[in-house]
Amino acid sequence: MNRKSIGIVGATGQVGSGVVETLLENNSYQLLLGSRKIEKLVEKYGNESEAIQYKAVDVFDKKSLISFCYNCDLMINTAGPSSIVLDRVADACMETNTNYLDVSGDKTMKTAIKDAMTKRNSSITLAISAGVYPGLTEMFLAFLMQNNHESIDDIRCYFAGKGNFSETGAYDIISSLEKDEGHGMAYYCNGAIKKMTSGIGSQIILPPPFNEVYTLPVISEEYMECLNDFKITNAHFYNTFATQKMLTDFITIKAMQLFKTEEEKRASANRLMKTYSTKDKSQGFIIYVVWDENGVKRKKWLQSSTNWNYCSGVVAACVAMQMLDIDFTKKKGCYFAQSIIDSKELFNQLLRTGYISMIEEN
Ligand SMILES: NC(=O)c1ccc[n+]([C@@H]2O[C@H](COP(=O)([O-])OP(=O)(O)OC[C@H]3O[C@@H](n4cnc5c(N)ncnc54)[C@H](OP(=O)(O)O)[C@@H]3O)[C@@H](O)[C@H]2O)c1
Repeated sequence: MNRKSIGIVGATGQVGSGVVETLLENNSYQLLLGSRKIEKLVEKYGNESEAIQYKAVDVFDKKSLISFCYNCDLMINTAGPSSIVLDRVADACMETNTNYLDVSGDKTMKTAIKDAMTKRNSSITLAISAGVYPGLTEMFLAFLMQNNHESIDDIRCYFAGKGNFSETGAYDIISSLEKDEGHGMAYYCNGAIKKMTSGIGSQIILPPPFNEVYTLPVISEEYMECLNDFKITNAHFYNTFATQKMLTDFITIKAMQLFKTEEEKRASANRLMKTYSTKDKSQGFIIYVVWDENGVKRKKWLQSSTNWNYCSGVVAACVAMQMLDIDFTKKKGCYFAQSIIDSKELFNQLLRTGYISMIEEN
């Protein structure tokens, strides 16, 4: 059988492990795993086999990137920090005509990729924001809309994550504060962003083990695009924090702009990691959605007790498998992942992995 080949840059990381293990479980692809050090790959995944091969790659060395991409049908990038890697791997994919998937992605990355595509007159398919948040937060909304179209309105979505994140992930969170990505303290109404005067630090109760959390309203670019696509009238999105201290730290870093120098950025990333490393060792995430349907309040949510960085890799792997199944000639360009997937198919596959459950309360 001629298996399709998938290259994974950042295969030794927390997110990369989720991608690799989910694709290996599926057993239908030829995988090329990348790290700056082959020994790290051998230590993590054992010796090379028919299904997995290793290659050294450094995203800051264009030659090694190009040679890595050459024989892949699809490249998945999980190397970070994505705020530094930006469109480097995507650009090598344009040069080698390889389709591309990134677990990260925001407006800045999308703009950089689109500019590079125009310059190169490239016609590959690129999907970004294919993790949990961003990623599943929008894909879940797309799933709800595609299955209850017309009747859903006044949506409130709450995201909560438990467990530590990597230094790479923490650095990216600080970078997004620095770039002022998304619309903080805002909600969405009839295609426009409206400022909120309250809602920051409100306490709400989510299903266990998340329980009481503190809210921070924010509408990201990818969430807004999803709301526009489905012509939703009213929507709120809340990132939530397990303790008031976590929320205060987050707001302080933003308000005091503790990211003006590289040193300050690293220090703020470490401060976030420290605040998040609590004695509570439970892991996981929840994407909890409440909406109004013909005057009735409905609640549906996705929940996992697995580390949410790892789950981001699981989600990206499921999106990748679907990308390899679709007819690329119809979808050229750069998309947020929610716009490229068949949400029903994706959720069938995602729920089958056993890492994520979908729960409904009537
Ligand atoms: N969308 C989401 O929900 C979501 C969730 C979590 C994380 N993320 C993003 O995913 C990315 C990875 O996060 P993580 O937690 O997996 O980080 P991590 O555990 O620190 O892993 C980082 C990976 O990047 C690789 N890497 C670093 N510099 C490299 C370079 N110059 N060339 C090639 N590879 C390089 C490392 O490989 P070697 O050291 O082996 O070379 C490692 O495999 C971050 O950008 C993070 O923001 C997104």
